[in-house]
Amino acid sequence: MGADGKIMARAARKMREEAEARHEGFLQRRREIYQALPRTEEIDRTLRTTAGRIVAETFRSGGDPGRAIAALREENLALQRERREILSAAGLPACALEEEPACPLCGDTLYVEGQPCRCLLERTTAEQNRELSRMLDIQGQSFDTFSFQWYDNAYWEAEGSSPRENMEIVYELCANYAHNFGSRSASLLMTGAPGLGKTFLSTCIAQEVSAKGFSVVYDTAAHVFAQFERSKFGREDEAAEADVHRCMACDLLILDDLGSEMATAFVVSALYQIVNTRLMTGKKTILSTNLTPEEVGRRYGAAIRSRLEGEYQVLTFFGEDIRKLKRR
Ligand SMILES: Nc1ncnc2c1ncn2[C@@H]1O[C@H](COP(=O)(O)OP(=O)(O)O)[C@@H](O)[C@H]1O
Ligand SMILES: [Mg+2]
Ligand SMILES: [Zn+2]
Repeated sequence: MGADGKIMARAARKMREEAEARHEGFLQRRREIYQALPRTEEIDRTLRTTAGRIVAETFRSGGDPGRAIAALREENLALQRERREILSAAGLPACALEEEPACPLCGDTLYVEGQPCRCLLERTTAEQNRELSRMLDIQGQSFDTFSFQWYDNAYWEAEGSSPRENMEIVYELCANYAHNFGSRSASLLMTGAPGLGKTFLSTCIAQEVSAKGFSVVYDTAAHVFAQFERSKFGREDEAAEADVHRCMACDLLILDDLGSEMATAFVVSALYQIVNTRLMTGKKTILSTNLTPEEVGRRYGAAIRSRLEGEYQVLTFFGEDIRKLKRR
């Protein structure tokens, strides 16, 4: 699963800061307990010397560590019992002087055998979702709130079906796509007139795929191209460079509203770089556009057209503009 490296690093940094703060809090609480109940500090000091005492005791008992260890274990258990009783008499939990890690799997080291621990992966996902939701205008848009009532049942000669029938297929496909997203997923081209739910459905996919832990970048094509331009021509524009890197590296890139930007030579080459590089590296892309596939080909050239024709699954949207229908 391709979590965004930078986001994971940030998640790890935050988790370490939090662990540090928890540790400080523990030390502070322990100081207060020691002050109020000095016997507990004595007990803890003795317990901490167990290892040294095993060595000393082994010498004294003529070199038999087994006997020494058994005797010390008894003593330690008695000390722990005494400490528990002191704490509970003071109305404190029995574990008040023990520092437990927030994650028992990795003991808050965030890694297990060199691999990111589940706690770190979960936090990374949460961070990714937060980052994504800053870019997404979700407005309650989800597969559950998608309504078919805006798509007419009347047959469209040119399309060979009704908007409703078509949307039922498109919706199913998008829901399954999000549900089963993975390395074998296709890339999608959503094409159709404005106001038909392309942005709505791509938003739904973005949320669900991201919630599964994949890195998802959602942005308008115009903004992405602007960032590409800034990172290329701007001097040391770190924010733009980071955006470009995220666009190229994420598991799923959603470029919304392709065609609304000025089609300069730079834009054409940036789009080619995005489409081609992401195909070669096995990353998935969703393009949504008000242009027809033919218009896309004319606008961005043969190289891009052949990539899209060969590798993208085309989802055609048709019907009446929902924005206009809702206004009526
Ligand atoms: N199936 C749907 N049910 C309810 N509202 C929808 C649906 N599809 C789109 N909308 C609404 O209609 C408007 C246009 O949809 P949008 O996805 O932006 O269209 P497009 O991206 O195809 O131009 C938005 O306000 C959106 O919330
Ligand atoms: Mg749109
Ligand atoms: Zn962990």
